Amino acid sequence: MNIVLLGPPGSGKGTQAQTLEKGHGWKYIGTGQILRSLLGRKDKMAAEARAYMDRGELVPDELMVKILLRETEEKWGGGLILDGFPRNLAQAQILETMLAKQNLRIDRVLLIELSEEEVVRRLTERTQCNQCGGIYSERLIICPRCGTPVAQRPDDSPDTIRRRLEVYRQQVEPLLDFYARRKILERIDGSGSVQDVANRVEISLKNR
Ligand code: AP5
Repeated sequence: MNIVLLGPPGSGKGTQAQTLEKGHGWKYIGTGQILRSLLGRKDKMAAEARAYMDRGELVPDELMVKILLRETEEKWGGGLILDGFPRNLAQAQILETMLAKQNLRIDRVLLIELSEEEVVRRLTERTQCNQCGGIYSERLIICPRCGTPVAQRPDDSPDTIRRRLEVYRQQVEPLLDFYARRKILERIDGSGSVQDVANRVEISLKNR
Protein backbone atom coordinates (compact mmCIF):
# COMPACT_ATOMS: atom_id res chain seq x y z
CA MET A 1 0.00 0.00 0.00
CA ASN A 2 1.21 3.53 -0.77
CA ILE A 3 0.29 6.14 1.82
CA VAL A 4 0.66 9.90 2.09
CA LEU A 5 0.67 11.46 5.55
CA LEU A 6 -0.61 15.02 5.76
CA GLY A 7 -1.08 17.26 8.75
CA PRO A 8 0.22 20.42 10.38
CA PRO A 9 3.81 20.62 11.65
CA GLY A 10 4.06 18.61 14.85
CA SER A 11 0.84 16.65 14.32
CA GLY A 12 2.77 13.38 14.59
CA LYS A 13 3.33 12.41 10.93
CA GLY A 14 6.96 11.34 11.46
CA THR A 15 6.08 9.45 14.64
CA GLN A 16 3.24 7.55 12.98
CA ALA A 17 5.37 6.92 9.89
CA GLN A 18 7.97 5.17 12.03
CA THR A 19 5.26 2.95 13.56
CA LEU A 20 3.86 2.11 10.12
CA GLU A 21 7.34 1.36 8.79
CA LYS A 22 8.01 -1.05 11.67
CA GLY A 23 4.58 -2.65 11.55
CA HIS A 24 4.19 -3.08 7.79
CA GLY A 25 7.72 -2.91 6.37
CA TRP A 26 6.76 -0.17 3.91
CA LYS A 27 9.51 2.17 2.75
CA TYR A 28 9.59 5.49 4.62
CA ILE A 29 10.24 8.62 2.60
CA GLY A 30 10.22 11.78 4.71
CA THR A 31 11.33 14.84 2.76
CA GLY A 32 12.04 16.88 5.91
CA GLN A 33 14.18 14.03 7.21
CA ILE A 34 15.99 13.67 3.87
CA LEU A 35 16.79 17.39 3.83
CA ARG A 36 18.03 17.43 7.44
CA SER A 37 20.25 14.37 6.89
CA LEU A 38 21.94 16.10 3.93
CA LEU A 39 22.72 19.31 5.81
CA GLY A 40 25.45 17.60 7.79
CA ARG A 41 27.12 16.40 4.57
CA LYS A 42 27.87 19.80 3.01
CA ASP A 43 25.49 19.02 0.20
CA LYS A 44 25.13 21.94 -2.25
CA MET A 45 21.44 21.43 -3.02
CA ALA A 46 20.59 20.91 0.65
CA ALA A 47 22.49 24.06 1.61
CA GLU A 48 20.32 25.94 -0.87
CA ALA A 49 17.23 24.34 0.71
CA ARG A 50 18.33 25.25 4.22
CA ALA A 51 17.60 28.96 3.88
CA TYR A 52 13.95 28.13 3.15
CA MET A 53 13.72 25.54 5.95
CA ASP A 54 15.18 27.90 8.54
CA ARG A 55 12.53 30.49 7.67
CA GLY A 56 9.72 27.92 7.81
CA GLU A 57 9.08 28.30 4.07
CA LEU A 58 8.71 25.48 1.56
CA VAL A 59 11.75 24.54 -0.49
CA PRO A 60 10.99 25.39 -4.16
CA ASP A 61 9.28 22.47 -5.92
CA GLU A 62 11.94 21.95 -8.57
CA LEU A 63 14.77 21.76 -6.03
CA MET A 64 12.72 19.53 -3.70
CA VAL A 65 11.88 17.06 -6.48
CA LYS A 66 15.54 16.94 -7.64
CA ILE A 67 16.67 16.09 -4.11
CA LEU A 68 13.88 13.55 -3.63
CA LEU A 69 14.66 11.69 -6.85
CA ARG A 70 18.39 11.72 -6.20
CA GLU A 71 18.03 10.42 -2.63
CA THR A 72 15.42 7.74 -3.28
CA GLU A 73 16.85 6.58 -6.63
CA GLU A 74 13.28 6.52 -7.94
CA LYS A 75 12.79 2.87 -6.87
CA TRP A 76 9.50 3.01 -5.08
CA GLY A 77 7.84 -0.42 -5.26
CA GLY A 78 6.75 -2.58 -2.29
CA GLY A 79 4.76 -0.10 -0.21
CA LEU A 80 5.52 3.54 0.57
CA ILE A 81 4.92 5.96 3.41
CA LEU A 82 5.32 9.51 2.16
CA ASP A 83 5.72 12.06 4.95
CA GLY A 84 6.02 15.72 3.97
CA PHE A 85 5.61 15.12 0.24
CA PRO A 86 3.49 16.24 -1.48
CA ARG A 87 3.00 19.53 0.29
CA ASN A 88 1.15 21.49 -2.35
CA LEU A 89 -0.95 20.84 -5.41
CA ALA A 90 1.97 21.10 -7.85
CA GLN A 91 3.90 18.44 -5.90
CA ALA A 92 0.82 16.18 -5.78
CA GLN A 93 0.59 16.33 -9.56
CA ILE A 94 4.32 15.67 -9.96
CA LEU A 95 4.02 12.71 -7.58
CA GLU A 96 1.14 11.19 -9.56
CA THR A 97 3.21 11.37 -12.74
CA MET A 98 6.29 9.92 -11.03
CA LEU A 99 4.29 7.00 -9.61
CA ALA A 100 2.38 6.34 -12.83
CA LYS A 101 5.72 5.80 -14.63
CA GLN A 102 6.23 2.84 -12.28
CA ASN A 103 2.60 1.66 -12.46
CA LEU A 104 2.04 2.85 -8.90
CA ARG A 105 -0.52 5.15 -7.31
CA ILE A 106 -1.38 6.59 -3.90
CA ASP A 107 -3.89 4.32 -2.16
CA ARG A 108 -4.59 6.36 0.96
CA VAL A 109 -3.98 9.89 2.23
CA LEU A 110 -4.16 10.21 6.00
CA LEU A 111 -4.69 13.72 7.33
CA ILE A 112 -3.59 13.85 10.98
CA GLU A 113 -5.52 16.67 12.63
CA LEU A 114 -4.37 18.43 15.78
CA SER A 115 -5.12 21.79 17.44
CA GLU A 116 -2.52 24.53 16.98
CA GLU A 117 -2.18 24.85 20.74
CA GLU A 118 -1.11 21.19 21.02
CA VAL A 119 1.14 21.52 17.94
CA VAL A 120 3.06 24.37 19.56
CA ARG A 121 3.31 22.49 22.85
CA ARG A 122 4.68 19.35 21.18
CA LEU A 123 7.16 21.18 18.94
CA THR A 124 8.66 23.25 21.73
CA GLU A 125 9.43 20.05 23.66
CA ARG A 126 10.69 17.96 20.71
CA THR A 127 14.25 16.80 20.14
CA GLN A 128 15.28 14.94 17.02
CA CYS A 129 18.25 12.90 15.80
CA ASN A 130 19.70 13.94 12.44
CA GLN A 131 21.60 10.68 12.17
CA CYS A 132 18.83 8.04 12.44
CA GLY A 133 15.73 10.27 12.38
CA GLY A 134 14.63 9.32 15.93
CA ILE A 135 11.90 11.70 17.22
CA TYR A 136 11.54 12.36 20.95
CA SER A 137 8.88 14.20 22.92
CA GLU A 138 11.38 15.42 25.54
CA ARG A 139 14.64 17.34 25.60
CA LEU A 140 17.15 14.51 25.30
CA ILE A 141 20.88 14.99 24.75
CA ILE A 142 21.89 11.63 23.27
CA CYS A 143 19.79 9.54 20.87
CA PRO A 144 18.74 6.31 22.64
CA ARG A 145 18.63 4.55 19.26
CA CYS A 146 22.02 5.38 17.75
CA GLY A 147 24.03 7.21 20.45
CA THR A 148 24.42 10.43 18.41
CA PRO A 149 23.75 13.82 20.04
CA VAL A 150 20.17 14.98 19.48
CA ALA A 151 18.99 18.58 19.36
CA GLN A 152 16.00 20.82 18.99
CA ARG A 153 15.32 21.59 15.35
CA PRO A 154 16.27 25.15 14.29
CA ASP A 155 12.79 25.50 12.75
CA ASP A 156 11.12 24.71 16.11
CA SER A 157 11.56 28.28 17.39
CA PRO A 158 8.23 30.03 18.20
CA ASP A 159 8.40 32.45 15.22
CA THR A 160 9.29 29.75 12.74
CA ILE A 161 6.58 27.42 14.09
CA ARG A 162 4.07 30.23 13.48
CA ARG A 163 5.33 30.70 9.91
CA ARG A 164 5.25 26.94 9.22
CA LEU A 165 1.64 26.81 10.40
CA GLU A 166 0.72 29.72 8.10
CA VAL A 167 2.41 28.03 5.14
CA TYR A 168 0.62 24.79 5.99
CA ARG A 169 -2.79 26.48 6.10
CA GLN A 170 -2.17 28.18 2.73
CA GLN A 171 -0.99 25.06 0.93
CA VAL A 172 -3.11 22.27 2.35
CA GLU A 173 -6.66 23.18 1.31
CA PRO A 174 -6.20 22.63 -2.45
CA LEU A 175 -4.34 19.42 -1.66
CA LEU A 176 -7.24 18.15 0.46
CA ASP A 177 -9.71 18.84 -2.36
CA PHE A 178 -7.40 17.06 -4.81
CA TYR A 179 -7.34 13.87 -2.71
CA ALA A 180 -10.98 14.10 -1.56
CA ARG A 181 -12.03 14.07 -5.23
CA ARG A 182 -10.05 10.84 -5.65
CA LYS A 183 -11.90 9.44 -2.58
CA ILE A 184 -8.69 8.44 -0.81
CA LEU A 185 -8.59 11.09 1.93
CA GLU A 186 -9.11 9.97 5.55
CA ARG A 187 -9.10 12.27 8.57
CA ILE A 188 -7.37 10.98 11.70
CA ASP A 189 -7.74 12.56 15.14
CA GLY A 190 -4.11 13.23 16.18
CA SER A 191 -4.85 13.85 19.87
CA GLY A 192 -4.17 11.34 22.63
CA SER A 193 -1.17 9.06 23.01
CA VAL A 194 1.05 7.85 20.15
CA GLN A 195 -0.61 4.43 20.52
CA ASP A 196 -4.13 5.93 20.41
CA VAL A 197 -3.30 7.62 17.12
CA ALA A 198 -1.59 4.48 15.76
CA ASN A 199 -4.75 2.49 16.56
CA ARG A 200 -6.89 5.01 14.66
CA VAL A 201 -4.51 4.82 11.70
CA GLU A 202 -4.71 1.01 11.60
CA ILE A 203 -8.51 1.05 11.84
CA SER A 204 -8.66 3.55 9.02
CA LEU A 205 -6.33 1.45 6.83
CA LYS A 206 -8.42 -1.70 7.41
CA ASN A 207 -11.77 0.02 6.83
CA ARG A 208 -11.68 0.03 3.04
P1 AP5 B 1 9.12 18.37 7.91
O1 AP5 B 1 10.24 17.73 8.59
O2 AP5 B 1 8.26 17.56 7.01
O3 AP5 B 1 8.29 19.14 9.03
P2 AP5 B 1 6.73 19.34 9.35
O4 AP5 B 1 5.77 18.95 8.29
O5 AP5 B 1 6.68 20.73 9.79
O6 AP5 B 1 6.42 18.29 10.40
P3 AP5 B 1 7.27 17.96 11.66
O7 AP5 B 1 8.37 17.04 11.28
O8 AP5 B 1 7.64 19.20 12.40
O9 AP5 B 1 6.16 17.25 12.57
P4 AP5 B 1 5.48 15.83 12.47
O10 AP5 B 1 4.06 15.99 12.03
O11 AP5 B 1 6.31 14.84 11.72
O12 AP5 B 1 5.44 15.47 14.02
P5 AP5 B 1 6.41 14.51 14.88
O13 AP5 B 1 6.08 13.09 14.60
O14 AP5 B 1 7.83 14.94 14.77
O15 AP5 B 1 9.65 19.59 7.03
C1 AP5 B 1 10.55 20.53 7.55
C2 AP5 B 1 10.88 21.58 6.49
O16 AP5 B 1 11.49 20.96 5.35
C3 AP5 B 1 9.65 22.32 5.91
O17 AP5 B 1 9.27 23.42 6.71
C4 AP5 B 1 10.20 22.76 4.54
O18 AP5 B 1 11.04 23.85 4.65
C5 AP5 B 1 11.05 21.55 4.13
N1 AP5 B 1 10.28 20.56 3.37
C6 AP5 B 1 10.00 19.28 3.74
N2 AP5 B 1 9.29 18.66 2.80
C7 AP5 B 1 9.10 19.58 1.79
C8 AP5 B 1 8.41 19.54 0.54
N3 AP5 B 1 7.75 18.45 0.13
N4 AP5 B 1 8.42 20.66 -0.21
C9 AP5 B 1 9.07 21.76 0.17
N5 AP5 B 1 9.73 21.87 1.36
C10 AP5 B 1 9.74 20.79 2.16
O19 AP5 B 1 5.85 14.85 16.34
C11 AP5 B 1 6.09 16.13 16.93
C12 AP5 B 1 6.41 15.95 18.43
O20 AP5 B 1 5.27 15.42 19.09
C13 AP5 B 1 7.55 14.96 18.71
O21 AP5 B 1 8.26 15.40 19.83
C14 AP5 B 1 6.83 13.64 19.03
O22 AP5 B 1 7.59 12.82 19.89
C15 AP5 B 1 5.58 14.16 19.70
N6 AP5 B 1 4.39 13.34 19.48
C16 AP5 B 1 4.03 12.71 18.33
N7 AP5 B 1 2.84 12.08 18.50
C17 AP5 B 1 2.46 12.34 19.77
C18 AP5 B 1 1.30 11.99 20.55
N8 AP5 B 1 0.30 11.26 20.04
N9 AP5 B 1 1.23 12.44 21.83
C19 AP5 B 1 2.22 13.20 22.36
N10 AP5 B 1 3.35 13.56 21.69
C20 AP5 B 1 3.44 13.14 20.39
